[in-house]
Amino acid sequence: MEYGHFEGREYVITNPHTPVKWINYIGTIDFGGYVDHTGGMLLCKGDPAVNRITKYITQMPASDFKGSTVYIRANIDGKTVIYSPYYVPTLHEYDLYECRVGLGYSRFIMEYKGIRTEITVFVPDGESVAIQDIKIKNIGNKRIESLDVIPVVEYSHFDALKQLTNADWVPQTMTSKAIGKPGDLLVLRQCAFMMVGVAENFFTSNRPVSSYEADRKLFLGKNEYGTWAMPASLEKDEFSSQDILRGDNVGALMHHLGALEKGAEDRIIVQLGQVESVESSMALIDRFRKEEEVDKALADIEKFWEDFLSVCHVETGDEDFDTLINTHNPRQCFITLNWSRYLSYYQLGYGARGIGVRDSSQDVMAVIAGAPDRARRLLEMIISVQCRDGSSMHQFNPKTMIASNGDAHEMDDRPDYYGDDHLWLILAVSQYLKETGDYDFLKKEIPFYEKDKQGNPVEKATVLEHLERALEFTKTHTGKHGLPLLGFADWNDTVNLRTGAESVFIAHQFSLASREMAELFSYLGDNEKSQKYLSYAEEMKETVNREAWDGKWYVRYFDYDGSPIGSNKNDKGKIYTNAQSWAVMSGNADGQRAKTALESVYELLNTPYGIKLSMPGYDHYDPNIGGVSTYPPGAKENGGIFLHANPWVMIAETIVGNGDRAYQYHSQLNPIKKNNDIDTYEVEPYVFCQNILSNEHPNAGLGRNSWLSGTSSWMYQAATQYMLGIRPSHYGLVIDPCIPSSWDKISIKRRFRGKVYNIIIKNPAGVSKGIKSCTLDGKGIEIGDGKVIIPVPSSAECNVEVVLG
Ligand code: GLC
Repeated sequence: MEYGHFEGREYVITNPHTPVKWINYIGTIDFGGYVDHTGGMLLCKGDPAVNRITKYITQMPASDFKGSTVYIRANIDGKTVIYSPYYVPTLHEYDLYECRVGLGYSRFIMEYKGIRTEITVFVPDGESVAIQDIKIKNIGNKRIESLDVIPVVEYSHFDALKQLTNADWVPQTMTSKAIGKPGDLLVLRQCAFMMVGVAENFFTSNRPVSSYEADRKLFLGKNEYGTWAMPASLEKDEFSSQDILRGDNVGALMHHLGALEKGAEDRIIVQLGQVESVESSMALIDRFRKEEEVDKALADIEKFWEDFLSVCHVETGDEDFDTLINTHNPRQCFITLNWSRYLSYYQLGYGARGIGVRDSSQDVMAVIAGAPDRARRLLEMIISVQCRDGSSMHQFNPKTMIASNGDAHEMDDRPDYYGDDHLWLILAVSQYLKETGDYDFLKKEIPFYEKDKQGNPVEKATVLEHLERALEFTKTHTGKHGLPLLGFADWNDTVNLRTGAESVFIAHQFSLASREMAELFSYLGDNEKSQKYLSYAEEMKETVNREAWDGKWYVRYFDYDGSPIGSNKNDKGKIYTNAQSWAVMSGNADGQRAKTALESVYELLNTPYGIKLSMPGYDHYDPNIGGVSTYPPGAKENGGIFLHANPWVMIAETIVGNGDRAYQYHSQLNPIKKNNDIDTYEVEPYVFCQNILSNEHPNAGLGRNSWLSGTSSWMYQAATQYMLGIRPSHYGLVIDPCIPSSWDKISIKRRFRGKVYNIIIKNPAGVSKGIKSCTLDGKGIEIGDGKVIIPVPSSAECNVEVVLG
């Protein structure tokens, strides 16, 4: 069954009964949240754990009211109809329902009883207000005698967890008060008592409010035996207009828009926001009462996305691939960068966990070209939680910059650091330098995380020294086999082994990071350092190949007692994907070994839904292996399809020249291609999800945890930098495609260091890889090893044409 289709840059949901709620993001973590496809809205200002505005309880059934809606009450032919233009919570029949999931906005279109509503929901850039811009048109053949529009919000206590844990204290603190009089442009102010003058929520519109309701009991009526589908208060002309000093606070604003003639239109703009004090913020509130300000704010958002997406535009002839790469994938990369793992339909933002060093380092890698300043700011933050020994704290709160070592502190007998965190830094910074050419960044001094008693940092170093120290930490923390110690965990959070265990993934990651450092120092002209780090990579490569080759693939870990995990010798968890993909990415696996390892992935781990992280799944809980064995086989890290790890295999396949395989892997995951089989997949077809149940699970193919996942960054990198092969380097833009052999012509427009590259790739011979000839603005260019590097041109644009063969 299909629930919608792609149109321009939107996904248009045309059937509200999607298998789970599908969402879209509005605003940013500074103010914003998400709106689901039936208008439910989760809004926060800053950390969703400590400043939550609307009460959106994800676990409640999809048909329930969630935080926000609008009711329309119309009188046509002497009959009253009451419904929501969002469909939920009234669940009425309709002639047309559409939720247009756009970039930074969602637009809801409903036609019912001759009334067409079009509501655009968005947050103006940098402002702390969510707008519902409601346009109404009489498209029927009768006059609408009266039309009432009633937007409704239900508030959460600002402390999101308190709201769920105390049902006396919370309602005793919640207050709502009208500023202004019924009949005028009234503002309903809501906040917990102690927040008056500190953080006040406001709910208002640009039309006179004839009456309001602020208490849920009064709004639903009948001691709350009135329902959200049919609130008893809507049986009366007016609300009670009582200010409230306690209770479950809602805001409901009654607007009588009067009659609407056939063909006539009307418009009303509703605002829900937060300010320090409503009374001193009337200028802001008045601003977004003006239609032209709202139009301009929406146009600004469109402009932002236009610019962000213009970094890379591709035409391959594969429509699903192009739609993903030109719009939905980069959009998800930006959203993930912004929200980290704070708040989604699955990650509920109650935990005040902050953002992860590992996660954000990877998120950043896909947005540097489109948002270089943000990328640099985030990198500076990440570097500032690195420790003096070169390891890193695991996560931090971006406002307070207080960091923690995540779950690593939970088990006393396990190491309290993650073995991989600090190495991501090298990969992210190196990508930043290659994309921007901002080598001054390396000289910037940033403190390490350790502080003295007064809270001042005890040591600082340049970014370049930070990176070197990261490498040294791993170099000096190795185990019995000479491989890096695992610490509490590496990228795979859920395999937690006893102290002394070693990680082959980190060994590969270390080799790759060492090669990046060698390349960087060579570019900077320091050959001694370059050689030193190259030897780090070569030594680790030798160790890995000596100790960790299992015959057909690489082992994934060695346990504290030296026994292998991810080996043919194991009953469960015989082979792990990451030990193979990273072997190739890092250069640790050469020639035949690289191919054999990747063949093993294809044979043993691939499914039509994607590549599994390992196999076979652990079939009972084993505390000695850790969290991975808390899931049934086929779920999440336990032999499930953990999408994040798939693009690494794609990258590896392009390195060995297998463009058809890389494309097959890409297509398996492309959510756009799942649009026809969505009843199995269930989650949004316009973003990647984090995990899909694999063929070891009875619900194979079911996706979960959409939106906020490292998958989007790596899928984008794999597709643009390795399949299309357009990647930044210290010396210019590399062109090194590895495409499906059936693609015969590709055009790519890529912005790089302020210049525009118009690239045409021709493939008359139907190969996957290897450039035969290349011209730059008509002149021949030297080809090295089947690829070319195009230096930054002096002109604003350049035209590159390559022929594969
Ligand atoms: C989650 C975590 C990420 C980790 C992954 C695999 O996505 O956010 O840090 O690498 O799981 O365990």
